[in-house]
Amino acid sequence: MNGALVEMRGVTKRFSGVTANKAVDFSVEAGEVHALLGENGAGKSTLMNILYGLYRPDEGEIFVNGAPVEFRSPADAITAGIGMVHQHFMLVQTQTVWENMILGMKDIPFFLPGGEIQKKIALISERYGLLIDPRATIEQLSVGEQQRVAILRMLYRGARVLILDEPTSVLTPQEASRLFSTIHRMTEEGHGVVFISHKMNEVLNETKRVTVLRRGETVKTVATADTDASSLAEMMMGQKAPLNLHRPKAAPGERVFEVRDIHASGDRGPEAVSGLSLFLRSGEILGVAGVAGNGQRELCECLVGLRGATSGTISVRNKNMTNASPRRFINQNVHYIPADRSGVGMATGMDVRDNSILRSYWSKPISTGTLGELIDWRAAEIRAARIVEDFNISAPSPNTPVRNLSGGNLQKLLMGRELSDSQTGDAPVIIVMHPTWGLDVAATLYVRERILERRENGAAILLISEDLDELLAMSDRLAVLFEGKFMGILEHPEDEPIEKIGLMMAGTMAEAIVNADIEAAS
Ligand SMILES: Nc1ncnc2c1ncn2[C@@H]1O[C@H](COP(=O)(O)OP(=O)(O)OP(=O)(O)O)[C@@H](O)[C@H]1O
Ligand SMILES: [Mg+2]
Repeated sequence: MNGALVEMRGVTKRFSGVTANKAVDFSVEAGEVHALLGENGAGKSTLMNILYGLYRPDEGEIFVNGAPVEFRSPADAITAGIGMVHQHFMLVQTQTVWENMILGMKDIPFFLPGGEIQKKIALISERYGLLIDPRATIEQLSVGEQQRVAILRMLYRGARVLILDEPTSVLTPQEASRLFSTIHRMTEEGHGVVFISHKMNEVLNETKRVTVLRRGETVKTVATADTDASSLAEMMMGQKAPLNLHRPKAAPGERVFEVRDIHASGDRGPEAVSGLSLFLRSGEILGVAGVAGNGQRELCECLVGLRGATSGTISVRNKNMTNASPRRFINQNVHYIPADRSGVGMATGMDVRDNSILRSYWSKPISTGTLGELIDWRAAEIRAARIVEDFNISAPSPNTPVRNLSGGNLQKLLMGRELSDSQTGDAPVIIVMHPTWGLDVAATLYVRERILERRENGAAILLISEDLDELLAMSDRLAVLFEGKFMGILEHPEDEPIEKIGLMMAGTMAEAIVNADIEAAS
């Protein structure tokens, strides 16, 4: 083949009920970043899981350097020079970086040559700008660092083609630009990179070719320079991109949620939340901006009973809820959509139906019997079917384990459950982190509209995101978090210069910022 490191021809993959890939052609050349684009459930991850030897295709062929290959496992793919980094990195949390490098390798000597391995790691990390301490254990590392380890692991094992499945959706903007310099180093050295992303600007700026999939089929492969965002969106959806978000003016009501001066420790010792106060009113969205790792997760966990506060108070509808159990928060109609979808948000081994009722199986109409000791499975099915329909989720059946859903469809199911369970009683409080992570263009708009609809219906919403565009489009007020403290809460964020928000994100208090600072930052 002329220059193709790998080529897939006519690849078809069926699961019971769905054809995830249908006669797909795809190739990666040396020195290129090739984007794989498509709506949620289009078949991107499946196609790459085939190339990585995790699934066997039902039809079609794979060539490496022009020679046909058949992979029975990822070990075969790695031997052929193909590596993949999944969204969930598949690292062993309790072991060190260098131990993770060699896990699963054949021919590991009985006494590990730790020194040699570490030397080789140092060489590769230097060469590709993947700085990491080889002796750290995985659980001590941030998500961005863990991703670096996962990439390093593939390079260590000789990958020439590296598949990155939505690598930037979990990264801060700084980490993302760092990842792109690593990718550049790789392509300069003649590697090929497959890049899956829903972020159009990344695809346009960082790749050489784009292949668009729609419902499992190839729409087209084009040179990135010859296309633009709207034609790509049209190729993905088969129609013009949806219109922009419309946000009516807020009409906030009474305070339903109030937090005063809370402090909480982080997982690794030091304080993560250092004296935060906020209130949420019915019918408004308070956005929280900030670089990940500044206490966002810990704050949310305090607000829903998953983490104890060391001091300070939390009240919901004037009821003291400081350090109450998660169940009590749920009974107060507090909803939580965490960033960690599959760990906290979903039970991935359970099916769509059961996941749909996870937060309501103890209340009517799901629970039944004289003491509420039984589950009405018919009601559960109805609930699940409604969420699937409302959120346009493509799931083979209600009995599909959710781990078999595509990334975006899993996310939509979680959003659907948390946003539609709150039909009855008091105005809900919704704490949501990164609502549109991993969602395609249409689903992103849809989810944002649903959140605004909840706001119209009186919900009090806390929205944590790293996407400033999203925050500015959605928030009525905007708090900026830095090292566990608010640098200020802006009453009219849309009127503020973006540079001011940037300065606050970097740790300057709002009231300390003067015009000269804003000009200097712009
Ligand atoms: N192991 C499996 N068993 C059954 N169905 C599966 C399995 N893996 C994937 N599917 C189905 O194949 C289809 C394509 O899924 P895939 O994960 O490839 O989509 P994707 O393009 O990566 O989407 P996303 O952007 O949401 O991650 C989906 O309908 C999904 O439910
Ligand atoms: Mg996917």
